Amino acid sequence: MSIEASFVWASEADMDRALDPQTERRTALVTGATSGIGRATAIALSDGGWWVLAVGLDADRGAAVEAVLRPRTGGRFVQADVTEAGVPEQLVEACRQETGRLDLLVNNAGIHFLAPLDELDMTRFDHLMAVNLRAPVALARAALRVMLEQGRGTIINVASEAGLVAVPGQPAYNISKAGLIMLTRSIAADYAARGIRAVSVCPGTTRTPLVEQAIASAPDPAAHERMLAERRPARRLGRVEEIAAAIVFAASDAVDYLNGTELVVDGGYTVV
Ligand SMILES: NC(=O)c1ccc[n+]([C@@H]2O[C@H](COP(=O)([O-])OP(=O)(O)OC[C@H]3O[C@@H](n4cnc5c(N)ncnc54)[C@H](O)[C@@H]3O)[C@@H](O)[C@H]2O)c1
Repeated sequence: MSIEASFVWASEADMDRALDPQTERRTALVTGATSGIGRATAIALSDGGWWVLAVGLDADRGAAVEAVLRPRTGGRFVQADVTEAGVPEQLVEACRQETGRLDLLVNNAGIHFLAPLDELDMTRFDHLMAVNLRAPVALARAALRVMLEQGRGTIINVASEAGLVAVPGQPAYNISKAGLIMLTRSIAADYAARGIRAVSVCPGTTRTPLVEQAIASAPDPAAHERMLAERRPARRLGRVEEIAAAIVFAASDAVDYLNGTELVVDGGYTVV
């Protein structure tokens, strides 16, 4: 097939898959959307015309996000703990009740702590794994049931540079993010032929409440922040808007062939 012919073919395929703007609203479920990367992602998606269900733990911050989403595309905030039994199914159902569909799941909610393996508290480990890995599996499972019915859908897992290289001092977090990357690959391997895409977006250290908390808890916060910035080629921390833009890109139908892989947005950390 010539290049021109393949472009025609691709655009015809896109037209087949396009939603009817009168009757169908592109619908996204974003976890951890009350803060940091998730908040920026919910807003960026809504700027791009998506109807967004924003999920998080903090009611006040959630209400503030909903106040930004509502005038755009009418998105909504739901306060929920994604580790609780039944919550993943309820969140997917909430999308379905609101718009009749679910096109995008962004598994973004995550937690982090520093502790070397020989000092690891196993209760903390279990909780981190429940938030960072078990909940995304349960959410993907629930979302897939709707997406497979639709014959299309995208699942974006917000992993980390720490899922690709072993960042010192945080084995629990590293393990959870490596698992998330394999969740993405497994979804693509099993469901790509049925119209499902999965992508891991791997941020490098990005200025959010999660990182500000880690900086504040260091013995010398200013030195810790300098160290975080200087150990990457870009010599700075990431900005939430940069990660959100990568997620919006990965969610776009224009990159329908992007599947199972990682989009690494880390200022070059993992290439040196
Ligand atoms: N900030 C970084 O440098 C960085 C780097 C790599 C990856 N990440 C990943 O990006 C994601 C977002 O991180 P952030 O820095 O924006 O964090 P953040 O602390 O600013 O936000 C975390 C969000 O997750 C939500 N959350 C936490 N536990 C939850 C639970 N049990 N149920 C529902 N919601 C829950 C919080 O309410 C909040 O909305 C995380 O998965 C994190 O691991 C962050």
